[in-house]
Amino acid sequence: MLEFLRKEGISEKLICEIEKFRKFYKVKGELKYRIPNPRYNYYGNDVWEEAVTALLCGENLLLVGSKATGKNVLSENLAAAFGRPSWDVSFHVNTDSSSLIGTDTFENGQVVLRHGPIYECAKWGGFGILDEINMAKNDSIAVLHATLDYRKIIDVPGYDKIKVDEAGRFIATMNYGYAGTRELNEALTSRFMVINMPGISTNNLEKMLLKEFPNINSKYLEQFAAMFNDLRIKSENSEISTKSVDLRGLISSINLMDKGLEANKALEMGITNKSFDDFERELVVDVIRLRIPRNLERSEIFTD
Ligand SMILES: Nc1ncnc2c1ncn2[C@@H]1O[C@H](COP(=O)(O)OP(=O)(O)OP(=O)(O)O)[C@@H](O)[C@H]1O
Ligand SMILES: [Mg+2]
Repeated sequence: MLEFLRKEGISEKLICEIEKFRKFYKVKGELKYRIPNPRYNYYGNDVWEEAVTALLCGENLLLVGSKATGKNVLSENLAAAFGRPSWDVSFHVNTDSSSLIGTDTFENGQVVLRHGPIYECAKWGGFGILDEINMAKNDSIAVLHATLDYRKIIDVPGYDKIKVDEAGRFIATMNYGYAGTRELNEALTSRFMVINMPGISTNNLEKMLLKEFPNINSKYLEQFAAMFNDLRIKSENSEISTKSVDLRGLISSINLMDKGLEANKALEMGITNKSFDDFERELVVDVIRLRIPRNLERSEIFTD
C-alpha cells in the first residue's frame, strides 16, 4: 500500500509519518487477519493527503459523496496503509447502541456483554468503518458521541467504561440526499473532519481501468474513460439523471466484454439499463454511440 502511495506521488513526509505510526502501534497476531488487503486502490492524491493528515492528527473522518466515488475503497485503503485491523459496520434504520457496543447475553449463568464491533474496535485500536452512517436514526447512535469526541470513551451502563485505544479511528461514509438517508445532526457531524468525495478524474479513471484490465488496448481505454466523463457532464447539466453515471457498472461491463460479450450489450447491462426511463435510456445510448461503435467485439478491445 505504501509503495502505491509513493508511486502516486503522495508527500514523502506523510508516508514517513504513516511508517512511524505503524512501527509504534503493533497489531496482535490474532488480529492481523482484520487488516484489509484491498481489492482496489483509491486514486486521488488530494483526498489521500487530506485523509492521511487528519488521521495522523487523531481525527475521525466523514466521507460524503454520491455513489461509487470510492468511499469504501478509500476507507479500506486507509486501514491498510496504517496497518490497522478494521471493523465494518453497516448502519440501517434499526442500528442502535446495542448493535454497536454490545448486547447482554447469558454465559455460565451470568449476564455478560457480548461485544459489538465498536467496542472491539475501541479496545484493539482498530479502524471502524461506519458505513452509510446517515441511514441510522441520530438518537439511537447518540451513544457514539463520547466515543467520537475528545473523551474517546465507551460508557456502557452497568459495565466498565472503556477507553478508545490510541490507534483507534473512525471513518464514516454517507451518500447525501438519497432515498432512505437522513440528515446527520450537527452534534454528530461536528465530531468528524469531512471530505467531500470528488468524482474520479479522467486520468485516474484510465489508471484504475488499466490496473484492472492490463490487457485493454489504449484506444478503448481512452474511449471508455471519455464516455464515462461524457455521461457525467450530461448528468451535471441535468440532461440525464445520475443513474447511468455508474463507475461500478462500467467496470463490470468491461469485465463482461473481457469474457467475450459484445461491448454494447455489456454497456447496456452495466450502464444504460440502470435508468428505468425509456427516454433517458435513449439519451444514454446516444452518448455511448459517440465513443463506441456498433458491434465491438472482444478482439478489438483487448490485446490478448
Ligand atoms: N477515486 C477512485 N479510485 C479508485 N477507484 C474508484 C474511485 N472512485 C470510485 N472507484 C471505484 O468505484 C467502485 C465503487 O467504490 P466504492 O464501493 O468505494 O464506492 P462508494 O463511494 O462506497 O459507493 P456507494 O455510495 O454506492 O456505497 C469501486 O470499484 C472503486 O474501485
Ligand atoms: Mg459504499
